[in-house]
Amino acid sequence: MTRFIDLADMSRIVNLTGIAPFIKQLVKYIEDDFKRWSEFDKTPRVASHSDIGVIELMPTADAELYGFKYVNGHPQNALNNQLTVMAFGALAEVKTGYPLLLCEFTLATALRTAATSVMAAKYLARKSAKCMAVIGNGAQSEFQVIGFNEVLGLTDFYLYDVDASATEKLMGNLNCYPGITLHFCHSVDEAVKHADIITTITADKTNATIVNASQVKSGVHVNAVGGDCPGKTELEDKVLTQADVFVEFPEQTRIEGEIQQMAADFEVTELWEVICGIKAGRRSEESITVFDSVGFAIEDFSALRLMHDIAEKHDIGKHINLVPQPENPRDLYRLLCKLE
Ligand SMILES: NC(=O)c1ccc[n+]([C@@H]2O[C@H](COP(=O)([O-])OP(=O)(O)OC[C@H]3O[C@@H](n4cnc5c(N)ncnc54)[C@H](O)[C@@H]3O)[C@@H](O)[C@H]2O)c1
Repeated sequence: MTRFIDLADMSRIVNLTGIAPFIKQLVKYIEDDFKRWSEFDKTPRVASHSDIGVIELMPTADAELYGFKYVNGHPQNALNNQLTVMAFGALAEVKTGYPLLLCEFTLATALRTAATSVMAAKYLARKSAKCMAVIGNGAQSEFQVIGFNEVLGLTDFYLYDVDASATEKLMGNLNCYPGITLHFCHSVDEAVKHADIITTITADKTNATIVNASQVKSGVHVNAVGGDCPGKTELEDKVLTQADVFVEFPEQTRIEGEIQQMAADFEVTELWEVICGIKAGRRSEESITVFDSVGFAIEDFSALRLMHDIAEKHDIGKHINLVPQPENPRDLYRLLCKLE
């Protein structure tokens, strides 16, 4: 039987501990999987582009489990009261190919994106970092704020969005959150002024300049999340030339990330190598670091693993009849006749 996790079940899974501890646990799962990078099948995600968006399939597998996510990116959806990013995912057994889990992945994407951002910043940001600018205050933003507070102890968040109602929504949601102080900003300049970390998480299918080089002071870590598709970037190219740039899977990031603006041989470091201690992360207190995040299948795999572990332990979700179980596996026909 396949376990099905819908939105209500996903909320139950997260609320067993709360959002912040869940993100913390997810950081550990993703980090554990990045530490065994060579054990995974890896491929750039398969993307189907249209003028206004993208639909992507993100598969990966280790020796025991296969996972994939279906995810979209449609910045214009908000105009119709729909999500920019929604997703669902599946986890299957490699030995039989049978699906173990079919689940909601819209909330899971926001949680895993925050967890991945935090994991990267753990290795790349200055240890003394306390303040973060959050440019783009949409659906993903609360999870970023909570993750950075919980895991890295950031306390002050400077928020800016072209749509002030998005910032008001974020402030309303996290207003009473213990240990977090939120600052409403009227411009990117105001938001980045005090920032040790700058998170860009806007949605617009264009080569935008959300942050330019003069706005990134020495020592800052840039967590660039919203540029994740061909023709969709957030940083001025000079930000990249003055920084050490870190990526998930170069073959995918060169197509989709901020570095699509750069030459094909532009030097980047793979995050897993930093996590494994093979390559250096931050070189000095003055260095500028950029995590050119696009979202990679292994992060979803880790989230699927965590959700499956929790669902199994607490028996959350419904068992659904997704795969036929005929008495004779060579006789599908009879099964169909019986159903009629
Ligand atoms: N890298 C990853 O792993 C990953 C994962 C999930 C989402 N994303 C990307 O993150 C982005 C945000 O996703 P979301 O679900 O929060 O989208 P959303 O539509 O809910 O929010 C986007 C926000 O960006 C704001 N915005 C747009 N242009 C801006 C600008 N020039 N300056 C400031 N704010 C601006 C919008 O007003 C909106 O409030 C999307 O581009 C999405 O594709 C990346």
